[in-house]
Amino acid sequence: MYFELAKRMSGLEVSKLRQELRKNMERKDTIPFGFGNPAMESYPVETLKEISDVIYENEPEKFLKYGQTSGFQNLRISLLDRLNNNYSLKHDNHEVVISSGSSQAMDLIVKILCNEGDIVICESQTFNGCVNAIRSYNAIPEGIPMDESGESIDLEILEERLKKDTQKKIKMIYTIPTFHNPLGTSMPIKKREKLVELANKYKIFIFEDDPYGDLIYSGEMLPKLKSFDKEGWVIFVGSFSKNLAPAARIAYVYAHKDITEPFIAAKGDADTHTNMYWQCMADEFIRNFRFDDHIQYLKELYGKKCQLMIKKLNKYCRPHLSFIDPKGGFFITCKMDSTINHRIFMEKLLNKKVIVVPGNLMSVNGTGFEDNFRLSFASPTEEEICQGIKLIGEALEESKY
Ligand SMILES: Cc1ncc(COP(=O)(O)O)c(C=O)c1O
Repeated sequence: MYFELAKRMSGLEVSKLRQELRKNMERKDTIPFGFGNPAMESYPVETLKEISDVIYENEPEKFLKYGQTSGFQNLRISLLDRLNNNYSLKHDNHEVVISSGSSQAMDLIVKILCNEGDIVICESQTFNGCVNAIRSYNAIPEGIPMDESGESIDLEILEERLKKDTQKKIKMIYTIPTFHNPLGTSMPIKKREKLVELANKYKIFIFEDDPYGDLIYSGEMLPKLKSFDKEGWVIFVGSFSKNLAPAARIAYVYAHKDITEPFIAAKGDADTHTNMYWQCMADEFIRNFRFDDHIQYLKELYGKKCQLMIKKLNKYCRPHLSFIDPKGGFFITCKMDSTINHRIFMEKLLNKKVIVVPGNLMSVNGTGFEDNFRLSFASPTEEEICQGIKLIGEALEESKY
């Protein structure tokens, strides 16, 4: 490196996942199972044009001048109502504040809670963005494996770890309990309750990352971890990235005011406020343009793609792949059986121009999980799903020991 950077940059590098995806994104001829992007047809372009006309007509000053750091007040109220009506979340001394994506929420929460050397527990495969945010403050992400069901962080291992933390270094648990990225799984209700109980008992925070929570395709809607929280240890974070548009960069933190107040102070220093145009757009959508009908459309769109992918995986990839049928979200993680040479398999897939995310790229340590990979069923077309899964089946056959 030609320039000497601050010490805090020593553990940070551009995400391998993003580099890999960016490289492949430039190729037009690939089957895109790697991306976490929504489907092109999911964007409600005509409705957004209409909403944009309305907000320009009403009071454009609202989104042209500087806004409040805590977020556009109307949107904060709309979101509070929505969390209450749709998810029965209503807590004393809590509020919603808007952030520039859940990625910024994670960055600022680590900034306000973690000292250097503090530990944040994560599921051992998780969303890279959170791992980078933790490292950027010289805090330490520590993976805990999933339990036998594959649906929840192993709560026994977690409790043993918490018991051993005599120096109180563990500050927070970062978790994606609903439609996990990359696993696609959801934590069962009893385990949700138990996890919040542990957070209360050991006085550590939980960051409940919930960008996929609205996108449920089958089964019962599970209560948020936040709904079990009586003392304010759970910080709930929702996002408009997967149910509206990631480029809007709007997410929201629902938490105790003793967290949101320092959060707002830190956010003021970071970016003054989140983009006001998109905050006004989202608020108008929720209030006057039947946002929940749009969510219903997304559930049908993605539910169909998800079922198609499962059907094709069953047809072309059994018995060499095992996977959990996700009830929502964007992802399925597939595990190869011991007859498959995974290194050869990944090479074959690249030759066939099928882009997946190898398991090690989503590991907290950056290693392990070479026998699994993540597929997204959200952005590929139905034709790409059919063709791509068939090619995966062929690659498996060609990669046997
Ligand atoms: C679990 C999880 N959290 C956060 C994000 C980032 O969301 P945002 O666009 O709101 O920053 C993603 C994006 O893929 C994600 O999968």
